[in-house]
Amino acid sequence: MSRTTMPEPGVVDPLAMRRTMGRFATGVAVITALDGDQPHGMTVNSLTSVSLDPPLLLVCLTTGARTTEAVVGDGRFAVNILGARQEGIAMRFARRGADHFDGLPLQYGRHAVPVVPEALAHLECTVERHFQAGDHTVVIGHVQQVCDRAGEPLAFLSGQFGDLVERGQEPQHWFF
Ligand SMILES: Cc1cc2nc3c(=O)[nH]c(=O)nc-3n(C[C@H](O)[C@H](O)[C@H](O)COP(=O)(O)O)c2cc1C
Repeated sequence: MSRTTMPEPGVVDPLAMRRTMGRFATGVAVITALDGDQPHGMTVNSLTSVSLDPPLLLVCLTTGARTTEAVVGDGRFAVNILGARQEGIAMRFARRGADHFDGLPLQYGRHAVPVVPEALAHLECTVERHFQAGDHTVVIGHVQQVCDRAGEPLAFLSGQFGDLVERGQEPQHWFF
């Protein structure tokens, strides 16, 4: 670890925070929700599984963003986990201020939330709870419906999209 750029303890620059957390490889998902009739969506990598029973997950969404308002206002949202060939979808839903669904065929899940066509998986959720944490809103979703399909996921590491390469080993079984 380089010690030449160590800041004062307790003072972490936002860009250093983003760069350092960027070392944590993730998948990529799009959070979708409705504001009235208007669908909104936002690319995220802050998705985390929280609990299996009951099935809970969390996402951290920029406070005040249109998708955040739609999720909190409607109380329902979908998590669309993107496949390896869906980098264009990830970019589309990350563009600030754009009409993210413009030109996309609209599809709805079982719980009437918009979903991204051909995603690797969909999880339809109701909002269990939400709270502010710094500049983001932490949303805990209660998963109501899941579906997935075979395929490779889109990965994100150090600010870049990438592919995950399987090593062809035996699956690891969780022991907790
Ligand atoms: C790979 C990737 C991951 C992202 N993860 C998050 C996230 O977890 N939370 C978040 O609030 N924004 C995240 N963003 C940024 C949002 O996608 C972006 O600010 C938003 O879609 C802009 O839409 P808006 O105009 O509605 O604000 C991410 C962007 C990318 C490209």
